[in-house]
Amino acid sequence: MSTIRPEEVTALLKQEIEQYESQLKLEDRGTVIQVGDGIARVFGLDNCLAAEMLEFPGGVMGIALNLEEESVGVVLLGETSEVKEGDYVRRTGRVLQVPVGPAVIGRVVNPLGQPLDGKGPVNTTQYRPLERKADGVVYRQPVKQPLQTGLKAIDSMIPIGRGQRELIIGDRSTGKSAIIVDTIINQKSTHQTDTPVFCVYVMIGQKESTVARTIAKLEEHGAMEYTCIVSASASDPAPLQYIAPYAGCAIGEYFLYEGQDVLCAYDDLTKQAAAYRTLSLLLRRPPGREAFPGDVFYLHSRLLERAVKLAEYKNCPKCGAHNPFNPNHPYEQQEIFNTCGACQSSLTSVAVTRGGSLTALPVIETQAGDVSAYIPTNVISITDGQIFLEGDLFYQGVRPAINVGISVSRVGGNAQTKAMKKVAGSLRLNLAQYRELAAFTQFGSDLDQATQRQLTRGERMVELLKQVQYKPVPVEVQVVQIFAGNLGIYDKLPAAQVEACADALVAYLREHYAESLHELSATGKLDAVEDKLKAAILEFSGKYVPAAD
Ligand SMILES: Nc1ncnc2c1ncn2[C@@H]1O[C@H](COP(=O)(O)OP(=O)(O)O)[C@@H](O)[C@H]1O
Ligand SMILES: [Mg+2]
Repeated sequence: MSTIRPEEVTALLKQEIEQYESQLKLEDRGTVIQVGDGIARVFGLDNCLAAEMLEFPGGVMGIALNLEEESVGVVLLGETSEVKEGDYVRRTGRVLQVPVGPAVIGRVVNPLGQPLDGKGPVNTTQYRPLERKADGVVYRQPVKQPLQTGLKAIDSMIPIGRGQRELIIGDRSTGKSAIIVDTIINQKSTHQTDTPVFCVYVMIGQKESTVARTIAKLEEHGAMEYTCIVSASASDPAPLQYIAPYAGCAIGEYFLYEGQDVLCAYDDLTKQAAAYRTLSLLLRRPPGREAFPGDVFYLHSRLLERAVKLAEYKNCPKCGAHNPFNPNHPYEQQEIFNTCGACQSSLTSVAVTRGGSLTALPVIETQAGDVSAYIPTNVISITDGQIFLEGDLFYQGVRPAINVGISVSRVGGNAQTKAMKKVAGSLRLNLAQYRELAAFTQFGSDLDQATQRQLTRGERMVELLKQVQYKPVPVEVQVVQIFAGNLGIYDKLPAAQVEACADALVAYLREHYAESLHELSATGKLDAVEDKLKAAILEFSGKYVPAAD
């Protein structure tokens, strides 16, 4: 018969007591002391984090923006009317984040990642924070691969590289959004290559009808297969419009860190800045120039700094750390690139992984072409160049209405294909000269032959660079069309027939010289096929009979 041993029982009891865990859950809660205009002041959230998500009754979410001594200023991401004074507010302990991953592709979501397209929930378990410190210079490499927009005027004169930030700026209705939509459509061909470009189109403060029309257009051209739309429309609360670009960037960063290429378009940041101004004024932050708060520069700089061409990297087999591998970096101690920064083990035999890229196309709307207003100058100084669209050109029928004189791309030239660089090298300068001459000769009629020739050529080139919407042109076609222009085959035609002739040329080359075109597109170099193409273009020019009108 077994006997009960008291010491065994006490030992067991002690063990139980030690392992006792109370089922009580500590929760940080505060109380709403004031609410209105999308802002709530909350008392009692002493440990609240900056930009932490807070939950109000009824599932309304808020972001803690102002951490003050007595209270926390919260912007509400849902209906203000659902929140009342005295309501409890719960801390979530999480800073703002969005669902990311391949599942968001093809979807239309709001800045919180909630679907707006009625296609059910976004099926992903991965999240990324909206706000992140941008990668430092050691993690980056120079931009050198082109991001083709498919627009002749841009790819030839203001080329954009993968990882670049290029501003699109102009008055309302000058075709800013059209450039973005065309660029997204043009990325379709990259999905047949081994470096596809995924797209995130952030639409801020636009009409819902515009959003719907854009989605329909993208769907029509099969572009939603690799695109995610983040929309905070004009009727959404200001806080949603404020966080929308960060959400889009976070969604893009998922692909970036998978070693892929992403294009993020923010259309437009003027409206985001206005939304942020609204919030700041309601939070009683001191207003500065044009009533924007003092940190409005930081609003855009921290977003656009996240555009990057990542250096190649090596993943440490021991500790899994992500080590940039930059053998061309002008750093004296090259061996640091072959040593794991975290555990110091050697990485010499580890394979190099491709670094992804995130290209940013922010949009800014100006008033009456005034680029020297506060927000335009801010964003011009943050980006690597700007595409300036002009109302006058737009109404004259020069579309895309790019002002070549003051549009620049400060890094894209390195990313241009050799062939394009060769044929388009002098295009910018010639067009600028043509504009000036044209303005000057409006008054006189007596022109010497050289001037006359320059005017004729300029006019034909302007015609050649006009392009309708939703018809992006592959880069090799752009090259031969511009090459033909340099050879002067359009000069003898009336300006109105340049487009038809350029199209006929491409059809002719596709029929008779397909292999040269193919080589041009495969190598991106003109040298090997230049003579052959030149002969072919002249041959075409000899045979071409313009359609009578
Ligand atoms: N290249 C183009 N050719 C013809 N129409 C264009 C072109 N680009 C834009 N448009 C038209 O101009 C209008 C304004 O364009 P949109 O891109 O919405 O301007 P923004 O975004 O600058 O306000 C639209 O109706 C659009 O269809
Ligand atoms: Mg627009």
